[in-house]
Amino acid sequence: MFESVPLAPADPILGLTDAFSADARSTKINLGVGVYKDEAGTTPILASVKRAEALLLESEKTKSYLGIQGLPEYGAHVQKLLFGADSAIIANNRARTAQAPGGTGALRIAADFAVSHLNRTKIWVSNPTWANHGAVFKAAGLEVAQYTYYNAETKDLDFDAMVESLKSAEAGDLVLFHGCCHNPTGIDPTSEQWKILADMSATQGWLPLFDFAYQGFAVGIEEDAQGLRTFLQNHDELLIASSFSKNFGLYNERTGAFTLVAKSSDVADSAFSQVKVGIRSMYSNPPAHGAKVVSTILGNDDLYTQWVAEVAEMRVRIHKMRGLFVATLADKGVEGDFSFIERQNGMFSFSGLTPDQVTKLREDYAVYIVGSGRISVAGMTLANMDALCTGIAGVLK
Ligand code: LMR
Repeated sequence: MFESVPLAPADPILGLTDAFSADARSTKINLGVGVYKDEAGTTPILASVKRAEALLLESEKTKSYLGIQGLPEYGAHVQKLLFGADSAIIANNRARTAQAPGGTGALRIAADFAVSHLNRTKIWVSNPTWANHGAVFKAAGLEVAQYTYYNAETKDLDFDAMVESLKSAEAGDLVLFHGCCHNPTGIDPTSEQWKILADMSATQGWLPLFDFAYQGFAVGIEEDAQGLRTFLQNHDELLIASSFSKNFGLYNERTGAFTLVAKSSDVADSAFSQVKVGIRSMYSNPPAHGAKVVSTILGNDDLYTQWVAEVAEMRVRIHKMRGLFVATLADKGVEGDFSFIERQNGMFSFSGLTPDQVTKLREDYAVYIVGSGRISVAGMTLANMDALCTGIAGVLK
């Protein structure tokens, strides 16, 4: 029976990590998957996480199941980060949060809920977007449409074209927004543009879904929630898929959250009861460790302060790498203005390299980046910068 199943293509991002691992060249550089590296080229466990884990090791008494929605205090912490501690949404008890296996798990919960309980059939995503968005939404049964986002010539957001293409999104359609640090372009709307999008969404009656995976990597924890909070000013209903993979460095703990905001507490209760039914049939209940770490840190002033400083350290290092990358490309004689790279937010830079150039970079220089031309700036270090820029100069010749 199984012989009729065709071989699947490698995953555009995680498949690169497999190919990288199999590459025997000692000079290889992996700038594919979005994983933060420190100057030593390792993906560290944050000191605040280590301290929280030590506390948990001492205090944990059981490994019994969590409830379907996960650790109760986790949901409360997630909502404070998303909405702000003094948000009216929290005061009016209008949001419900389910701990999810990573941001990807949260996206799937959102899509399943929208299809099964709201009869939604279509979602709009930016062009380009994270390579896995389409697969997640299609697997849930949604049709995936694209709205314009990026202008390859100006290397900037094409806001007029974005607005124009979103005019085709109809009432009830889901529209996906990246909360901050747009993946893969690193370009976010300005506060004025967020306001225009929020007004447009409210007028046209979309159901916004925020993918919020990089809070703290653009400007700061509070500042990066600006787009979401702008939407919340004129939307009664909204969905959020958030992730702590990056800002807590909890990649393999799969620590994410699905949050729904409803008109009232009663409506939130009914809607969330169906979310829980969906989760029960998918994976029953979530794993505990990552959420306990996050809750321990967010519930302790000292650990929270340390975590905020650690997020800032990651953000600043990535920004320094952006500057060094631009300067080193110039040193290598690469022509053109690459200053746009310094204006981008988050872990990624959308380089503009073509698929052929990306392949040549991998084959001739052992530098791995995503086929779309996305480079993980978070993986650049002082040690690999020269070889990286030599490779890019080589393929651009
Ligand atoms: C990425 O975009 O590289 C990360 O979100 C990791 C992943 O799962 O693709």
